[in-house]
Order: sequence, then C-alpha cells, then structure tokens
Amino acid sequence: MPSAESKGFVLVIDDYEHIRSTFASYLENFGFQVKVAKDGSEARTLVDQNIFDIVILDVCLPDYNGMELLKELKSIQPTLEIIICTGHADDYDFFGAIKSGAADWISKPCKLQELHAKVERVRREQKALRELSKKNSELVQIKTETEHVLKGMRTMIQSQDGCVIPKRTKIRSDFPEIIGDSEKIESVLELVRLVSKTKSSVLITGESGTGKELIARPIHRLSSRTSFPFVPVNCGALTETLLESELFGHERGSFTGATMDKRGLVEEAEGGTLFLDEIGETTPQFQVKLLRVLQEGEFRRVGSSKCNHANIRIIAATNVCLEDNVSKGTFREDLYYRLNQFRIMVPPLRDRIDDLLLLSQYFLESACTEFSKELVGFSSEVIEKFLRYAWPGNVRELENMVTQAVILSTPPTIELGDVPTLIDRLHKNPRKTRLSDKPFNEAKGEFERKYFQNVLDRTNGNISAASRLSKIDRKQFREKARKLGVHGTSYAQQT
Ligand SMILES: Nc1ncnc2c1ncn2[C@@H]1O[C@H](COP(=O)(O)OP(=O)(O)OP(=O)(O)O)[C@@H](O)[C@H]1O
Ligand SMILES: [Mg+2]
Repeated sequence: MPSAESKGFVLVIDDYEHIRSTFASYLENFGFQVKVAKDGSEARTLVDQNIFDIVILDVCLPDYNGMELLKELKSIQPTLEIIICTGHADDYDFFGAIKSGAADWISKPCKLQELHAKVERVRREQKALRELSKKNSELVQIKTETEHVLKGMRTMIQSQDGCVIPKRTKIRSDFPEIIGDSEKIESVLELVRLVSKTKSSVLITGESGTGKELIARPIHRLSSRTSFPFVPVNCGALTETLLESELFGHERGSFTGATMDKRGLVEEAEGGTLFLDEIGETTPQFQVKLLRVLQEGEFRRVGSSKCNHANIRIIAATNVCLEDNVSKGTFREDLYYRLNQFRIMVPPLRDRIDDLLLLSQYFLESACTEFSKELVGFSSEVIEKFLRYAWPGNVRELENMVTQAVILSTPPTIELGDVPTLIDRLHKNPRKTRLSDKPFNEAKGEFERKYFQNVLDRTNGNISAASRLSKIDRKQFREKARKLGVHGTSYAQQT
C-alpha cells in the first residue's frame, strides 16, 4: 500500500524474476511503491485486492494472453493505467494495445531511465485526469443544484423591468388563505379535508412557523361546528395556574384577584373548536384535567366543585416531539393517544421549496398593501438566495423578512441590500439538497464517503478501530477509504 508520500502504486507483471526486481527497485528509488506478479493470475489477484495506479505489463506471460489480461485488469479497475512491455517489439501490435486502453508501451530490453520517464508521464496525466474528473463531478453537483433553483424560477415570469414575479396560479375555494401548490402542501390539505368531516381530535405537528395554526382554522371552518366559535389558546404562554383558570374559568374568591365568577375558554368554545397551541409545554397536572374533558366531556371551574359539561372539539399543536416527552414522563401517554387520534404533520418550508416563490410574492403584496408601497417583485439575486436558504424559522421567518424588506426597499423591486441579514443567514444555514435529488449511484457514493469519513473521525483515523466499528475487514476498509478519497486526521501516518 502506498504511504501518504508515495508517488504512486505500481504493479510490475513479468515472468522473469530479474526484470521484476530490477524494475521494482529502480522505481522505488524515485518514490513509487511497487508490487510484482510473476504471471497473469497472480496479477489478477493483486489487482482484485489493491488499488494500483499503474501496471507495467509484459505481454508474453506463461498463463495469459497480454491483450486479454489488459482488458481484464481494466475491467476490474477502469482507472488503472497500463504500460505494455514486450521483448518482441517488432511483431507486436502496439496500436491495437493502445486502442484497447493501454497508456503507453516500451520494448525490452529497455533503458531504466526511459521506463522511469514513461511511468512519470503516465502518472502525471493520470493525476491530471483524476483532478479533472473530480472537478467534473463537482460541476455535476453544481449543475444539479442550479437545475433545482431554475426549476423554482421557471414558475416565475419576467416583467418588463427585468424583475422576477412568481405567479399564483390557483386559489383554492376551500382554503383561500393557504398559499402553496407543492405536493406536500396538497397532501396536508387533503388530510384537513378528510378530518374536518369527522369528530376526532387532531394533533398537528411541525417546526415553529410552518403554519400549524393556519391549518387548524380550516379544520374547524369545514366541520359541522363552523357556526360555533374557534378558540385558540397558547398553552406555552401561561403558567399552569393561569392556564387552568383561562381554560376552565374560576369562581369568585377562588384565588387572590378573583373578584367575580369567570367563564373559561372551554365554555367560550361551546359547540365549536378549542385550539391548544404548544400542548407540549403543559404540565402533567394540567394534562389530567384536559384528559377529563376529552374522555368524559367534563370540567370544573377553579375553586368550584360543580361539574360542567363541555361539547367541544380539541385540536392540539406542538413543535416538540411528544413521543419523546411521553418516554421522558413529561407528557401523559393516555392524553397523547387521545390527541393523536388523527395526526397531521406540516412539513418545513425547506422541504417544499416549490412553494417559496408563491409565498414570497404573497407576503410582498400583503406588505405593499399594508405600507402603501408599489413593489412588483424581487431581483433574481434575492430569489436565488431565498432558494438556497434553509429557512429554520419557516414561513414565519419568510413573512418577517419580506415585510422588513418591503419597508426598506425602493420600487420597483426588492434588492439584496433590502434584505441585509440574508447573506449572513444563508452562510450559517444553507439548504441541504436531499439525497433523493441525485441519481442512485451518485447518492450511494455520497453516503459511502460520509459513512467512511464519519467512522474515521470517530476513531481519530485509526483504521483498526474503524474496521471494528464498521465490521468491515481492516484491509478492505483501508482500500475503500482510499478509493473514496476519505481519510481521518491521523490516517496518513498509519497507512
Ligand atoms: N401556506 C401558507 N400560506 C400563507 N401563509 C402562511 C402559510 N403557512 C404559514 N403562513 C403564515 O406564517 C405565519 C406562521 O404560521 P402559524 O402561526 O400558523 O405557524 P405555527 O406552525 O403555528 O408556528 P408556531 O409553532 O410558532 O406556533 C403566519 O403568519 C401564517 O399566516
Ligand atoms: Mg402556532
């Protein structure tokens, strides 16, 4: 195996021991690592087990036809460069060999300097080619990224001023307030349609700012409860005592400041829907009381012993993983199952990037109306950066950013300078392309590289430890890592 300083890994195949050892020691003097094989089958085995850069192949071997062997070795390892070597130069079809993939040829007896010069040249070209192909795959990656961005841009039209304007093609009659026509948002809305016709409780999950409340409202609106109130409560904003009093109401004198009887939001919502936002923030004590409402339809005002009846539907939302909270014991399992009768997951904005342009234009138009501005759209530079950003704050972050930009900007378009934090945010949070955006082989290669890098990082570049961890044979691990161009911190010293 070549060391980190090796100039290349060479295999000399010749049935003469003298030639093998002379070539090997001469090339080793110049920093090449060399292995030798006495015949075709030994060469085959070695090429199977190692990753050579160059092969010097004597075409007259006892067990193999040189041309056949050349083709076989190339098929095992296509990046291998093969220099043909023969003592019968006059009769040999060098042209045919070059056509079959040989990099160069040399006739025996040969001057060792000449051999060395050829090996050096072939190696130099090979390195340049590999560098080029690396650059090429980087370009392919950039191309994929760009196509993604362009796909988004295709949904826009070019105005006379040269600014880009996304076009909202449809307004759904049942969800006029919801912008977006990605498949993901369509599936969410399909679930909303379905569940709105049922009586079941609903749990809406998704990152902060994805639009959980926005979809809770039409669940109520499209249901048979539509003529009754929709009452939203932010459970995370209130302490346990306050939340209980807000929801269930209280009796006069039940605590300091309770100067009169008060109806709670559960009573306000009678016949309609109670929307409990940030349900994950509630305490287990409060959860018991909520469970009672869900199971028995009963509740008590704070300070009262009288049992009241509630006819409400509950929709809850959270941006935390309730399953984790159940395992930790901070969220009651029975309540979780009650709420989770029907689950809707709202995808983050970065996973439905097709909607980004429609949303941007929608927020731009709303802000223009609010601030009496006459902007027509965004510069393509802004759009391009929007499409590359990961939007950790989701739709809310986009809405805030566009609104601020509208305030700052001068017509006709929003320019990069009107969104001063964008470049910094993009730098910290670029959107990762998904693995499924790539062809299988490319995605597989990327996975393998990440996996090997990760294992080597964990073992500080120690190959034996990495081999144990990955349950891959040590030698295979080392060679695969080399092939993938992956190395840990101390990898170079160990090989
Ligand atoms: N598809 C959409 N179309 C139009 N506006 C949207 C859309 N999704 C989200 N918004 C807007 O983004 C903002 C955030 O939405 P919402 O409050 O529903 O998010 P949330 O998931 O409940 O956030 P949080 O977890 O912080 O409570 C709101 O102003 C909402 O109107
Ligand atoms: Mg919310």
